[in-house]
Amino acid sequence: MDKKPFYITTPIYYPSANLHIGHSYCTVATDVMARYKRLQGYDVMFLTGTDEHGQKIQDKAAEAGVTPQEFVDNIVAGIKDLWKLMNISYDRFIRTTDEYHVKSVQKIFEKMKAKGDIYKSVYKGKYCKPCESFWTETQLVDGKCPDCGRPVVDAEEEAYFFRLSKYADRIIKLYEENPDWLQPASRAKEMMNNFIMPGLEDTCVSRTSFDWGIPVTSDPKHVVYVWLDALTNYITALGYENDAYNDFEKYWPADVHFVGKEIVRFHSILWPAMLMSLDLPLPKKVYGHGWLLLDGGKMSKSKGNVVDPVFLCERYGVDTLRYFLLREFPFGSDGVFSNEALINRINADLANDLGNLVSRTVSMVEKYFDGTLPAEQTADPIDDELIGMASALRGIYEEQMESYAFQNGLIEVFKVISRANKYIDETAPWILAKDEANKPRLARVMYNLLETIRICATLLTPFIPDSAEKIRVQIGAVPEMFIWDTAAEFGKLPADVTVCKGPALFPRIDMKKEMEFLDKHQEKQKKEAEKAAKKAEKKAKEEELANVVIAIDDFAKVSLKTAKILACEPVKKSDKLLCLQLELGEEKRQVVSGIAEYYKPEDLIGKTVILVANLKPAKLRGVESQGMILAADAPDGVKVVFVDGVPSGCTIR
Ligand code: MSP
Repeated sequence: MDKKPFYITTPIYYPSANLHIGHSYCTVATDVMARYKRLQGYDVMFLTGTDEHGQKIQDKAAEAGVTPQEFVDNIVAGIKDLWKLMNISYDRFIRTTDEYHVKSVQKIFEKMKAKGDIYKSVYKGKYCKPCESFWTETQLVDGKCPDCGRPVVDAEEEAYFFRLSKYADRIIKLYEENPDWLQPASRAKEMMNNFIMPGLEDTCVSRTSFDWGIPVTSDPKHVVYVWLDALTNYITALGYENDAYNDFEKYWPADVHFVGKEIVRFHSILWPAMLMSLDLPLPKKVYGHGWLLLDGGKMSKSKGNVVDPVFLCERYGVDTLRYFLLREFPFGSDGVFSNEALINRINADLANDLGNLVSRTVSMVEKYFDGTLPAEQTADPIDDELIGMASALRGIYEEQMESYAFQNGLIEVFKVISRANKYIDETAPWILAKDEANKPRLARVMYNLLETIRICATLLTPFIPDSAEKIRVQIGAVPEMFIWDTAAEFGKLPADVTVCKGPALFPRIDMKKEMEFLDKHQEKQKKEAEKAAKKAEKKAKEEELANVVIAIDDFAKVSLKTAKILACEPVKKSDKLLCLQLELGEEKRQVVSGIAEYYKPEDLIGKTVILVANLKPAKLRGVESQGMILAADAPDGVKVVFVDGVPSGCTIR
């Protein structure tokens, strides 16, 4: 029988080199859902990608001195590496700069234009550059962008408009007839009250003030508005209006779009209206998840917590991080991220509850039965509660997962894990082991534990795929006993199963030591960031200077003289400064120079250098400096300009 299709998407990401753990949240959740649906036997299409056009990208590329295409190529490679590291099992990755997408968007635009749903007019209003969003005066909050709170600018230009107003009634009907279409319900209420009911106005869908975008075929001085370009990715990636793929019929409409709360508006108003205009079915559901915050504020890399996903994965493991993200925060609400909460969660749930259950059970089977259980086993009514809970788990878990309540799904699995740990205490295997006559009973206890672990680990596979696989091997289960069907049946392992002990799955972390380490790590990072910022500032200044033209008279104001270094010693309490005694013909000078990292005093004595002789004297670390010697910023460090052989005191011009 053909598998049923299931199509799930993440938002496509703006290329940013600074991805933090918040950015990974939606992708990890989508991955868990995709893996869960595959486990259930669906034919899953999991789409993710990058949203690469727009003024912001054009500006950033210009800042970096590269073309927009070079800029995005570079960053997209890093984003793909991150998803690989985090074990994200996407089936397709779309870039909005992909040729097939560009062509499809052009066709879509023309289709909507031919229908009269896109028309030319003049755009007058407010524009938020960072959000690339147009706003009407009434939508502003305190005169600022309602999404990010930053100032907006007046904008007026010839532009194409999408007739959003035409679809207002159908959008209202969509919400009224399908109260679950947009979840959580609070988001649907917000959209209705704040945007739909006040009246949907036609929206600007082209720009002429920059060109890093998809040109409108029939009017190429316009580029397509980034959101129209971006939203269509969900259908172009399946082959809508292109030949690159041909599974649009199979997967559209999407089963669910997962999106962050701030972009719900685009997905739940503009997107359905665009699809209505194209006479296409609407996605079955949009889910607007909450944000990960830092202590009440927005997530950023400089707020006292380490939020770099690469660092976190490398230090704590990919599965632990994936587990934490979905266990700690209810998917629909905001949550406060902290390194401390992450470590607590790893220690309590993964090391203590799950890790201990697996390692205790497998160790006991090895210790008491040399790794293989005897087939002769004795059951006891005390087993029934655990068996009952493990057998019912799949149904309870499924109910939670179907409503995207990842946190609750995990809580249910861990209730059974805790019950199994309690069962070990109740049955006290170490006492049973003392008497040979109890071996059949002891074997049954072990079997029940292995079975419970098997069911729990199967259901944890979407969250912690690598660890679940390690557990499967440790408890001696073949892959066929680790699938959806066998997750609802207690008693699948053979009675004489053989276990295979492995290393600890989730080592415990010493909170105190770890927090100290993180503090130091952050301090180091801060210093590196400051250094990088200083370097960038210097480079920018140099570039600025390179464009400044000065008259010869200005240059003549600088007095440059050759000077011989007679003596040199480090400046006390400084790693960077050397104090030089110079001779300029008859005259003597003392100069302090920041070259101690590159030269030893003895390398300099006797050398002739160039001195800016009429620089205003200054004190460096309390030592008087009467001028400055010239040096070059070479790629491998600072190089003093030597003019050995030229007598001291000569003028340089
Ligand atoms: N390019 C648009 C999406 C276009 S979809 C047709 C975009 N990109 S983004 O890179 O800014 O954001 C990608 C996703 O990351 C969004 O869903 C956004 O909500 C999410 N997150 C960014 N920071 C976040 C947190 N701190 N916490 C959780 N998710 C957040 O928007």
